[in-house]
Amino acid sequence: MIAGRTRAAAPERPLTMTPPDIPTDAVLAQLVDAARAARAHAYAPYSRFQVGAAVLDDAGRIHAGCNVENAAYPQGTCAEAGALAAMVLAGGRRVRAVAVVGEGAEPVTPCGGCRQKLREFAAPDVTVVIADSQRERARHTMDQLLPASFGPENLK
Ligand code: THU
Repeated sequence: MIAGRTRAAAPERPLTMTPPDIPTDAVLAQLVDAARAARAHAYAPYSRFQVGAAVLDDAGRIHAGCNVENAAYPQGTCAEAGALAAMVLAGGRRVRAVAVVGEGAEPVTPCGGCRQKLREFAAPDVTVVIADSQRERARHTMDQLLPASFGPENLK
């Protein structure tokens, strides 16, 4: 193998979740709480738009993140990216559920780039809960947010 040309194996994933893997509403509520707590740490001096996110991994652990903006605007990172980085650092490789929390007239769904980032670790039937500081606003599956997506399977 030529150095620098090796490729890590794409993570194996089930096509769908089986019932024991489906997070309960109580777990989803915990996930939303974690995203709300993370949102309080957002560094968003430019947009003033604070976002928190949390992902549930396949070991039942919750990993959270917030948006971190930068004076060089494109260098800012979304809350979802922070949550995923925390999961990977902890050894997690599968996302079982996602929560995103933000305020506004419209529910704060993940941006396009974050949909792709989440898709790397989340099966099509994974639930994405959208909430604000007071209540749940919407629920989608990953496949609804990013249909006909490209992912690790394409590289096998
Ligand atoms: N933002 C997120 O953190 N996640 C999203 O999915 C939507 C947007 C952040 C990025 C930026 O810091 C602020 O919200 C305004 O776009």
